[in-house]
Amino acid sequence: MIEVLGRVFPPERVTTAPGDLENWGRDWTRSFAVAPSAVVFPETVEEVVAVTRLANENGFALVPSGGRTGLSGGAVASHGEVVVSFDRMNRILGFDESDRVVRCQAGVVTAALHEFAAERGLCYPVEFSSTGSSQIGGNIATNAGGIKVIRYGMTRDWIAGLTVVTGAGEVLELNRGLVKNATGYDLRHLFIGAEGTLGFVVEADVRLTEAPPPTRVMVLGLDRIKDILGVLTRFQAEVTLSAFEFFSDLALRRVTRHRSLPDPLDSSAAFYALLEFDADDETAALAAFEDSLAAGWVSDGVMSQSDAQARALWALREGITESIAPEMPYKNDLAVRVSEVPGFLTDVDRAVGRHYPDLEICWFGHIGDGNLHLNILKPPALSMDAFYERCHALSPELFKLVQARRGSVSAEHGVGLLKRDFLGFSRSAAEIEVMRAVKNALDPNGVMNPGKLLP
Ligand code: MLT
Ligand code: ZN
Repeated sequence: MIEVLGRVFPPERVTTAPGDLENWGRDWTRSFAVAPSAVVFPETVEEVVAVTRLANENGFALVPSGGRTGLSGGAVASHGEVVVSFDRMNRILGFDESDRVVRCQAGVVTAALHEFAAERGLCYPVEFSSTGSSQIGGNIATNAGGIKVIRYGMTRDWIAGLTVVTGAGEVLELNRGLVKNATGYDLRHLFIGAEGTLGFVVEADVRLTEAPPPTRVMVLGLDRIKDILGVLTRFQAEVTLSAFEFFSDLALRRVTRHRSLPDPLDSSAAFYALLEFDADDETAALAAFEDSLAAGWVSDGVMSQSDAQARALWALREGITESIAPEMPYKNDLAVRVSEVPGFLTDVDRAVGRHYPDLEICWFGHIGDGNLHLNILKPPALSMDAFYERCHALSPELFKLVQARRGSVSAEHGVGLLKRDFLGFSRSAAEIEVMRAVKNALDPNGVMNPGKLLP
């Protein structure tokens, strides 16, 4: 293998050191075996083509690796695959002011793109907690969403063009940054969210937009989750929302302890909603808050008076993932229509409580777009394997609840290894057959991230 890879990569860009295999062979998940054969660090599209051709000719498989912040095992190499790290393809290649399109290599870190946009008085508005290390190629491969989807949409909405290397080693230039292009199948969108199973994203044309207006943040306490839709509808009628997030009291307890942060409200509530809206709407937001209080939907609330306060309130939401990481959460990333959220959350809570009264649940997520993160926390006494098995065994019942509400078993984290066996709860047999046919057409020898996404 090393001899074969050495035909493309100089020795300093191929590694088989155990520490490197462990580091680049996995994402944020900790429950899957990590066993790649080697890691390579291409610097050019041609090198990605070359390693793909080698894989086809020599019968080995490839796993793409970006910022390794994935939560579904989509970038885990468990079976002797060669990991293709995009760490060295991290350059911004060009920017056109009139197009407002920036050409990035796949390994550009999301925060670097944010910075690049801000320096030009513009914005790349897809935001989530891991932007400091996630890479644009990985964001595209999972169609990453995040905390501003309610206003700005998903990664898909910002990709004007893509260059991909297919599993057959062909380079496809998709859409080339055009706004309008009515020439048949838009293959770009096939690769967005495909988790590297059809080919690897090597470059992308990313759209930027105007810098956002100044904003305010509110945190509201709610005793009943069923009231959250009343609050959302009331605020939506009055203000321009850029986020409408939520977290449970357990989530708040974990994050305030982990980061030594003060409680946002004088008294605790069962759930909290975090809203962000344009500063111009402050008066209207206060009116919506008064109405929500009068309706008995919210028990208390706080609004940021400065950017520093806004950041402190956001920390309560953005710090949750890290604060529960030591408890090895079994992550569920579920989506239903916004109108279904309260009923769905109650059903799921009941199901988990019935089967596993001893397990703690940490709820948080993006109510504004119907995306709920159900994190089941591992009791310290339970081994990782036993815990994982119990959660996995419960999944079919949870996913039946998702299916009954015509929802999704993965809203934004991707399917990867974690949700692969459950794809059928969200996609029909006919759809999965079409997906397989697409995979066969673009990756005939199955070298691109095999074993992920498709059951
Ligand atoms: C979030 O919403 O914070 C992210 O999706 C990460 C997570 O679910 O842990
Ligand atoms: Zn999320």
